[in-house]
Amino acid sequence: MTISARLDRCLLATCLAFISLSADAERHDQSADAGQELFLRYQCWQCHGYEGQGGGAARVAPTQYPYEAFVRFVRYPNIMPAYTTELLSDDELRSIYEYLRSIPEPPPIEDIPALNDL
Ligand code: HEC
Repeated sequence: MTISARLDRCLLATCLAFISLSADAERHDQSADAGQELFLRYQCWQCHGYEGQGGGAARVAPTQYPYEAFVRFVRYPNIMPAYTTELLSDDELRSIYEYLRSIPEPPPIEDIPALNDL
């Protein structure tokens, strides 16, 4: 194989990898957007805040739980109303999870001037 043919192959592989990575990122974003809508529709925000920051109940974003643990919490909670598969499908729950994972960590308190002036 000539050097130029090798280079072409390499470029093609890089391009394909890039296309597949950006397709993944887009799918993830779409799922997170749908998840935000579901988080509001299913009233999660009432207890966990609009951004999952907590309020009446625990902070849930960004969630540190692996997906299986998250599902267990939502399907078999202690005090929280249980969201069964009849109420909320597995796909919908996966989207809510993607949404909560997509929310960035808040900045440390030291980096928020108003809180340091207290
Ligand atoms: C009526 C209030 C209420 C609603 C609505 C609600 N939750 Fe909760 N949630 C709670 C309370 C209270 C807890 C903590 C106690 C427990 O485990 O039941 C909790 C705990 C959780 C936890 C575990 C957090 C932790 O670290 O302990 C997750 C994850 C969670 N909720 C997700 C959701 C999702 C997703 C929805 C919407 C589909 C939702 N919750 C709707 C009240 C609520």
